[in-house]
Amino acid sequence: MTTTAQTIDGKQIAKELRSELAEEVIEFIQNNSVVPCLAAVLVGEDPASEVYVRNKRRACEHVGIESQLHRLAADTSQDDLLKRIAKLNKDEKVHGILVQLPLPPQIDSDQVLLAISPAKDVDAFHPMNVGRLLQGNPRFLPCTPHGVLHLLKRTGIETAGKHAVVVGRSDIVGKPLAILLSAKSPSGNATVTLCHSRTADLASHTRQADILIAAIGIPEFITAGMVKPGATVIDVGVNRTDAGLVGDVAFDEVAQVAGHITPVPGGVGPMTIAMLLLNTLEAARALER
Ligand SMILES: NC(=O)c1ccc[n+]([C@@H]2O[C@H](COP(=O)([O-])OP(=O)(O)OC[C@H]3O[C@@H](n4cnc5c(N)ncnc54)[C@H](OP(=O)(O)O)[C@@H]3O)[C@@H](O)[C@H]2O)c1
Repeated sequence: MTTTAQTIDGKQIAKELRSELAEEVIEFIQNNSVVPCLAAVLVGEDPASEVYVRNKRRACEHVGIESQLHRLAADTSQDDLLKRIAKLNKDEKVHGILVQLPLPPQIDSDQVLLAISPAKDVDAFHPMNVGRLLQGNPRFLPCTPHGVLHLLKRTGIETAGKHAVVVGRSDIVGKPLAILLSAKSPSGNATVTLCHSRTADLASHTRQADILIAAIGIPEFITAGMVKPGATVIDVGVNRTDAGLVGDVAFDEVAQVAGHITPVPGGVGPMTIAMLLLNTLEAARALER
């Protein structure tokens, strides 16, 4: 093998973005005499959710965004959760609302996400925000897809005219990424192929990608033979295995073929939280205008 890919350092790029955000938060507070505030709602005691919410709150503190934790018991009724969201929607001190998923089985997640005010929907999961994204007029960009676009931008990887292949069509990653990459915008203008579990001869598609994005949830699913030499490979996957956290891309072998590649951990993951902070600041700017 002759080529070895350049690793895209998401941890470093997210750090730079956070320090830029910290300065913007100071400026916002000076201009508005208001501190941007994110309210996180955590229902039950799922250990992974506890860690995610703790990391998000810590990241808020680092950039000067206030964070609130609304902790509700695992047996909370749907009604009580909706009441709490209604209260946060009305609370002028709160600019962003985040309901940590998954929710316990007695709660209908769709109804909960629908109840969040679109102006405070910093995860961008509300149908109104999804619709705006589809129409090319987004209020917020969903955090993980936005993180991917930002990694490409900071690495100087042009998307216009490129063939991007997205593997995975989830509502939170694959589908919005395909929309954003194909949008008529500076971070889009790619020709996009969206693949999924029913795609026939997946490798024949992935091998055509100038930019290959894996959002599948299967450890090391993308192998070297599925990648075009010199391609940019973005690994969204986070899979817990006995060997630790592993992406959807077989990093060591794909790095011998690709031009650029993101590691797991330290690639897309840190960008997702940074984008949540950005959305909270954007929400505060719009609400305090
Ligand atoms: N880094 C981050 O911040 C971040 C954020 C979100 C998610 N993630 C990670 O990203 C991964 C994907 O997450 P997600 O929420 O998008 O997952 P998901 O909702 O489970 O969707 C997985 C997608 O992969 C497709 N797929 C499954 N097996 C396939 C196969 N053999 N060939 C081709 N496509 C296949 C599925 O196709 P069908 O639609 O046909 O079932 C589906 O569209 C997970 O590892 C998750 O932990 C990371």
